[in-house]
Amino acid sequence: MSKKVILSGIQSTGKLTLGNYLGAIDNWVHMQEEYDCYYMIANLHTLTVRNNPEELKNNTLKILATYIAAGLNPEKNTLFIQSQVKEHAELGWILDCYTYMGELSRMTQFKDKSAKHADNINAGLFTYPALMAADILLYQADLVPVGEDQRQHLEITRDLAERFNKIYGKTFVVPEAYVRKESARIMGLQDPTSKMSKSATNPNDVIFVEDEPEIILKKFKKAVTDSENKVKFDPENKPGVSNLMQIYASITGKTMEEIENEFEGKGYGDFKMTVANSVIDKLKPVQEKYKQILEDKEYLEKIYTKGAENARKIAAKTLEDVKNKIGIL
Ligand code: TRP
Repeated sequence: MSKKVILSGIQSTGKLTLGNYLGAIDNWVHMQEEYDCYYMIANLHTLTVRNNPEELKNNTLKILATYIAAGLNPEKNTLFIQSQVKEHAELGWILDCYTYMGELSRMTQFKDKSAKHADNINAGLFTYPALMAADILLYQADLVPVGEDQRQHLEITRDLAERFNKIYGKTFVVPEAYVRKESARIMGLQDPTSKMSKSATNPNDVIFVEDEPEIILKKFKKAVTDSENKVKFDPENKPGVSNLMQIYASITGKTMEEIENEFEGKGYGDFKMTVANSVIDKLKPVQEKYKQILEDKEYLEKIYTKGAENARKIAAKTLEDVKNKIGIL
C-alpha cells in the first residue's frame, strides 16, 4: 500500500517562533518515515500583508534552512517554496470561483487580520483560504497537520473538495486536519491567553528559534506567572504557569503530573530556569546547523529547486485533470 500523503506549510512573515518549532516542525520530523510528506513555505500567502521585499526573500530561505536544521531530511520530504510551483496560483484562482463570499466572510482569521490591518484589507486576505485549499488539494493530501487556528481553513478545503467532486466526479482527496493530541499549543510568555505570535507587539512575549541563550533566559525570567508559587497544570486559572509546563512537556516528553512532582515545593524561579535551559538545549543543535545551512546559498538553491520539481510532478497532474473537467483549454 502506498503511504498516506501529508502537506503543510508555514508563512514566511517574520522569524520562526518556538511555537512554530514545537507546535509544527518538530512534529513533522516524526512523520517523515511513515508518510509521503510535502512541506512548503507559503510565500504567496505572505503577500496578504505588506512586506519588505528583501526581508521576504531572506525569510523564505531562513524557513527552509530551519526545516532542514530541525531534522526534515530533504531526501525523504519534498521541501519547496509555494511560488515556485505555479500550479498553486492557478488552482487558487479556479477555486476562488467555487468559493462563496458567505463562507469566506465567516473566517475568523479574516476578521482578526482585517481588524489588525484596517488600512489594508485586500482581496487576497479575503480569498486566502481558497489558495490554501489549492495548496492542499493539488497533492491529494490525506492529512494536514495544522494548529487549532487553521481548523476552519481545513473545513473550507474539505467543503471545496466535496463540492468539486460532486459536480465533476472524484477529482480531489478530501483531506483531514491532523491536530496531534500531544502537539503543543504554545502561548505568549507575556500574554499566555493568546498564541505565541511572530507579530507580537511585546518582544518578550515570543521566543524566536534563532534567539541566543541569554535572550531566551531573559525572556523566560520575565514570563508572566501568578502569585500562587505552585507549579500546577491549570490552563484556566494559571495560564502562564501551564504554558511553561506545556513547553517543558513537549521538550522532555514528561507528563504534567511528573512535572508537578518535579517542582513540588520549589519556587517559580527554579522552574523558569529549568524550562529556559531545556529550550536552550533543544534549540542549540538546530541553531548551529541552521547557521551553517543558511550560509550555503548554493545548497539551499539545490534543495528548493529539486523540491519544486518533485512537487510540480504531482501538482501538474491534478491541475490538468481539473482543467479538463471544467473545460479550460
Ligand atoms: N495558513 C497557514 C498558517 O498561517 C499556512 C499555510 C498555507 C498552510 N498553506 C497551507 C498550512 C497549507 C497547511 C496547509 O499557518
